[in-house]
Amino acid sequence: MSVGLRVRLVLLLLLPSVSTGNVLNLARSNFSDVVKDYNKDTFIKFYTPWCGHCKKLAPVWEKLSAVIGKDPRMKTQLKIAEVNADEHKDLGTHYGVTSYPTLILFPRMERRADAPSGVYGKYEGKRELGPLLDFVKTHVKPSKTRRIHAMDLLAHEFYLAAEPAPREE
Ligand SMILES: *[C@@H]1O[C@H](CO)[C@@H](O)[C@H](O)[C@H]1NC(C)=O
Repeated sequence: MSVGLRVRLVLLLLLPSVSTGNVLNLARSNFSDVVKDYNKDTFIKFYTPWCGHCKKLAPVWEKLSAVIGKDPRMKTQLKIAEVNADEHKDLGTHYGVTSYPTLILFPRMERRADAPSGVYGKYEGKRELGPLLDFVKTHVKPSKTRRIHAMDLLAHEFYLAAEPAPREE
């Protein structure tokens, strides 16, 4: 087998695992635009290029992004992003990032009232695909508008049921 062919074969084997991620890279200039999304939560990895745990997490984060991107429901609810906190120190400081990597889930604007601090909280679990997926699945719920709508209908039914029967004169 020629070296060229072997290289191409190896590339083919590697490609599916490295090219499918779609992690949004955020900077000071576009952080707010991405996080202040009405319809989607944003899960952000604050990292530095030199930290060992960050390097270990990088492929897992890509994989998480790829899995979310392939899930028809999740991809309409969640974005996976990252901030180089070495380059954008003020962003990390603003959100209380003191160690790397730090993973924070930011709620969509629609649900900002559920999280007065602006964040749902830091992810403290294992930095592996399974636990990360479990975490986002429990936090990323169907749109609140739809939930409220369902509640309204229910309330309306109660209201109708509670209404006194028309008086007969
Ligand atoms: C945010 O801005 C940075 C720096 O200009 C750029 O590299 C990055 O692609 C932008 N991210 C998005 C999601 O637009």
